[in-house]
Amino acid sequence: MSKLHFKNKWILVTGASSGLGEEMARQLAFQHQANLILLARRKDKLELLKAELEKDAKVSVRVIVADLSNLEDVDRAIDGILKDGQLYGAILNAGVTYFGRHAELPWEQFQTMLQTNVVSVVRLTNRLVDHFETTGNEGGLLIVSSMAAILPIPYQSAYSATKAFVLSFANALTHEIKNPLFSLTVYLPGGIVTEMTAGENFHDLQGWLMPVKEAAKDGIYAFQSRKSTYIPGLLNRIGGYFMNLLPKKFIAGKMSKVYERALLKAEKGNN
Ligand SMILES: NC(=O)c1ccc[n+]([C@@H]2O[C@H](COP(=O)([O-])OP(=O)(O)OC[C@H]3O[C@@H](n4cnc5c(N)ncnc54)[C@H](OP(=O)(O)O)[C@@H]3O)[C@@H](O)[C@H]2O)c1
Repeated sequence: MSKLHFKNKWILVTGASSGLGEEMARQLAFQHQANLILLARRKDKLELLKAELEKDAKVSVRVIVADLSNLEDVDRAIDGILKDGQLYGAILNAGVTYFGRHAELPWEQFQTMLQTNVVSVVRLTNRLVDHFETTGNEGGLLIVSSMAAILPIPYQSAYSATKAFVLSFANALTHEIKNPLFSLTVYLPGGIVTEMTAGENFHDLQGWLMPVKEAAKDGIYAFQSRKSTYIPGLLNRIGGYFMNLLPKKFIAGKMSKVYERALLKAEKGNN
């Protein structure tokens, strides 16, 4: 399968108002001259990015304000996105985490995380795959998971499980796709410097985080080269390899100590 070419093509990026999604949108515009559909809840941030990309990168940009934890918003958004048949690619990147004791995660917050990280991804993927299967058009889909999908992280237990779901879903679904011009890629970054990791609880883990520019560049590379599953960074890839060999209980036990220490330090700092 030849690689994807983004120039003058329309690409959807969810979660484009900050972090990885915003940076991937920037790189797709400036380095690949892609036209973009930017989706998130914060309209002001999306409008600012649209203005910047249209002015400085000379690409066309559409903004869709939608709350992906709400299924009606998800359906309204994807109806609008697919209407003109021009979509070439989609990056399903929007996501939320919870870093703390699972016992203290409010049920409503858990449901919102599940809706955003899992339900919306499946709902959008269903429509996107159906579109490319029906039209036979060339294109691709990138789903942003996390290394937490292969390495369950204590104190981010529910988040890790949402990321494991989308990894498994995509890895299996890819074998059901018949359109030879369409590819499905899952991206598994380790920690990245973004709003998600800016909170107090992550303070002690900052040294582990990858710069967002690098994570975005690697994600676009994986998408464009139609990788099936991709972990950015050599050390992460080596780590990922060993994580598959070692017992999960052992690795999760080690991670538990690191994350619990970070949590306790953050709590001490707050008192
Ligand atoms: N940061 C990390 O260490 C890391 C590591 C591995 C994987 N990831 C994954 O990378 C992806 C991007 O995260 P990030 O680190 O860039 O975090 P971020 O800076 O917090 O960005 C999250 C994006 O998702 C959007 N979003 C959240 N809830 C939404 C909702 N209900 N509806 C629509 N959009 C929503 C946010 O926009 P609005 O708030 O404007 O809606 C924002 O644009 C996530 O899937 C995350 O799980 C992150």
